[in-house]
Amino acid sequence: MIYAANLKCNHTKKSYADYAKKLSNGLSQNSNSVIVFPPFTALSEDKFNFTQGAQNFYPAQNGSYTGEIGSQMLEEFEITTVMIGHSERRALGEDEPFLKAKFDYAVSKGWDIIYCIGEDDITHMNGSTKEFLSDQLANIDLNYENLVIAYEPIWAIGTGNSAKVEFITEILDFISSKCSAPLLYGGSVNITNIDEIKAIKSCDGVLVGTASWDADKFLEIIKKG
Ligand code: PGA
Repeated sequence: MIYAANLKCNHTKKSYADYAKKLSNGLSQNSNSVIVFPPFTALSEDKFNFTQGAQNFYPAQNGSYTGEIGSQMLEEFEITTVMIGHSERRALGEDEPFLKAKFDYAVSKGWDIIYCIGEDDITHMNGSTKEFLSDQLANIDLNYENLVIAYEPIWAIGTGNSAKVEFITEILDFISSKCSAPLLYGGSVNITNIDEIKAIKSCDGVLVGTASWDADKFLEIIKKG
């Protein structure tokens, strides 16, 4: 199982230092299956029993890209795991051509990619989730060897209510019929639903937001695994 923590725009440098120490100490040995995505300002150069990833990056080494972070900056922290396509970044204007540019750049670097897809509530209510996801997946090379796909229905993110197990099963089975990349589910994963989500056959892990922001809570979720 892969346990990924999306800290989003939470944690200062100081609070993340405490978080990372606690989480790392709580993991018995170096475990590549735990990935934490802290905010850029909190990234640490210390070694931990988990992998640090980047929530975002600009598809260039460096240059005149005000406010952006290029691969040269990520390399300083030995970051080789990146998230692309999170719905909160899509909502800020990252469109399919830009996501493709980021994907292709990450592939050129050989980075591990967690590529996020997911539909909004209207698409879900319309019953057109699969068509929508197919379009999102058509943008990337599904045969890339270091690809992990995270299915995160937007209507379940940050609500406290995850999608139903039957629905997650149906959608992950659908995605796995298209590619052999490991699949994560994200959207209000927490200590009360981790067991049933983990039990889904085509689920290889979880992408956790809110319930990962406290190191003890995230450790509890991992340890149930
Ligand atoms: P959530 O966030 O666990 O708070 O729903 C998940 C995510 O946005 O990746």
